[in-house]
Amino acid sequence: MRVAGLGAAVPQQRVSNHDLAERLDTSDAWIVGRTGIKARHIAGLGETTTSLAAEAGRRALADAGLAPAAVDLVLVATATPDTPCPSTSARVAADLGLRASGFDVNGACSGFVHAFHTAAALLADPSIGVALVIGADRFSSIVDPDDRGTAVLFGDGAGAAVLTRGEAIPGAPGVLGTDLGGDPSGVAILEVPRGGAYVAMDGPELFRRATRGLVASGSAALGRAGATAADVDLYVPHQANARIIGAAADRLGITEDRVVLDVAERANTSAASIPLALEAAQRAGRLRPGHRVLVSGIGAGLAWSTVYLRWDR
Ligand code: COA
Repeated sequence: MRVAGLGAAVPQQRVSNHDLAERLDTSDAWIVGRTGIKARHIAGLGETTTSLAAEAGRRALADAGLAPAAVDLVLVATATPDTPCPSTSARVAADLGLRASGFDVNGACSGFVHAFHTAAALLADPSIGVALVIGADRFSSIVDPDDRGTAVLFGDGAGAAVLTRGEAIPGAPGVLGTDLGGDPSGVAILEVPRGGAYVAMDGPELFRRATRGLVASGSAALGRAGATAADVDLYVPHQANARIIGAAADRLGITEDRVVLDVAERANTSAASIPLALEAAQRAGRLRPGHRVLVSGIGAGLAWSTVYLRWDR
């Protein structure tokens, strides 16, 4: 398995902390100090989970140099589909003119890594040679714009990865170690309550458990590969909050220079955050052939998922 291309798409409208402070009892200093977030992109008219996902997918295929007809499977990780049915993956397949279809994965903020993990496993099926894996969320549709406790944290966007079978680095496996787990006792810590329209969250408790979860999952995946933190060239955790990422990296023993931090301009884009961060790292020249990359998602559920990869493009 290799990642053959990456793509990103965010809505046009950028909403800064200063913009939010004009209508909410908050401040740029509070938000930056607590989260590292300076701005987020919020979907406007005509910008949907599907349109963002399709755009990210289109860009990932272009990055991979592949035509839509080459795709055998499309998975979309999202907690905010535009409609309950058909799946967002079916709508994206139609928009991109794919010959393939697929299904959605709802793992909230850990959804992209769940979907990646699933696609990597499905590439063992001889009928699947190219998988398009997309993380896309429009959290602005489920966040109360008047709740300063949540409205400042989230943004909208989509990121995509093209996974192919084949080894650009001969003899080297793509996936070195994985972990899939969670802490169901935390199911109510971040939820849209039954009958409710908006996300409710226990921020401090989520902070503690998310940090613990990232550390547990990252360590488990490394352990299964017989590796340690010294064997991580780049750490790409879910981009919820700079303080959670810093605390998890610190406890794992991964130095700051090996951590991808992409929250400042995008905030927490849920399932999109990891592919957006990977795409930003690629653009910045931080992903090189042979790099060992630790990718960890965590989110509502609580659910988490980690893939420890050898990068080969
Ligand atoms: N601006 C200003 N003040 C705010 C605020 C905002 N946007 N949001 C909350 N506050 C206030 C609270 O009302 C509280 O005031 P009080 O002491 O008068 O009651 C005070 O700030 C402290 O609130 P608390 O929730 O204890 O703050 P915190 O230091 O834990 O920071 C979070 C809050 C949300 C930033 C932090 O808990 C966090 O990052 N949690 C994880 C959230 C997350 O990443 N979720 C997605 C995971 S996938």
